[in-house]
Amino acid sequence: MVIGALACGGVLWVVVASRIRTLKEQRDTQQHLLTRVEELSHASRVNMLGDIVGALSHEINQPLTSVVNYAAATSETIKRLPALPHGEVSSLLKGIEDEAFRAGEIIRRLRDMSKKTIKGRTLVDINDLTQQTVIFYRAQFVCPQNLITLNLAASLPAVKVDAIQIQQVILNLLNNAREATEEIDGRVPAIQISTELDAEGQVQVIVEDNGSGPESKDLELLFRSFYTTKEQGMGVGLAICRLIAEVHSGSLQAELVAPTGCRMRLTLPVEKPVAGVT
Ligand SMILES: Nc1ncnc2c1ncn2[C@@H]1O[C@H](COP(=O)(O)OP(=O)(O)OP(=O)(O)O)[C@@H](O)[C@H]1O
Ligand SMILES: [Mg+2]
Repeated sequence: MVIGALACGGVLWVVVASRIRTLKEQRDTQQHLLTRVEELSHASRVNMLGDIVGALSHEINQPLTSVVNYAAATSETIKRLPALPHGEVSSLLKGIEDEAFRAGEIIRRLRDMSKKTIKGRTLVDINDLTQQTVIFYRAQFVCPQNLITLNLAASLPAVKVDAIQIQQVILNLLNNAREATEEIDGRVPAIQISTELDAEGQVQVIVEDNGSGPESKDLELLFRSFYTTKEQGMGVGLAICRLIAEVHSGSLQAELVAPTGCRMRLTLPVEKPVAGVT
């Protein structure tokens, strides 16, 4: 009887002890999970902050470099000429003003983009926008003669986009193409920018170069934040470009060009006409 009670108590104790152990393990696991979730959300906040800071400094750097160049040219002009040529000085100052305004616009639009707003989108003729962007690019950078050629589709439906953001994408793609064609031996550097209507009726802007081609076989790597093969690169240009394409419900893809080079394909959906509206 006593032995039976003891055995029963012993079994009970073993059950209770194992239950306590299980509860403690569960609590430890829960605690561990909570800590992990906190660590992860902290890490993702840090990553997000890094992405935003990287994106901002990258995008603002270009117009600010132009501001500095215009300012330097202005003071050089003033120094060189005793009698002030007002026309020339005011056009240089206009350059400073425009570029500073563009920097402000870029910050505002990046902020809007993080709120996923679609404000600022208008119906745009992508051929016009591409052409204007190339003109702007040629004016900003000293490019070899005939480096960039245009090949625009005869007629394209309008796309509803934020023109400044799409212009940023094209500028970034042109920059990468130019950098990729800078050190090629034995062939003339060439960048072709074309527009097309694809089989699904979407508009495409394609930037193709005969440069060195991507170093990585994994072309998705090119779009990862902070992936760069350049000494002075930040590795955020393409990450931002893809983000812009995706907030427009479009896409940005890299392709290899034979024998050497890279093709970037920006696809933008066309607004479906509302039934009954012509
Ligand atoms: N046209 C191209 N040809 C070959 N490689 C390219 C091309 N475009 C991009 N890449 C590769 O993808 C990488 C990432 O490009 P991304 O534009 O994001 O950054 P980056 O040009 O290195 O620096 P930044 O942030 O200043 O633009 C580049 O460093 C390069 O290795
Ligand atoms: Mg780049």
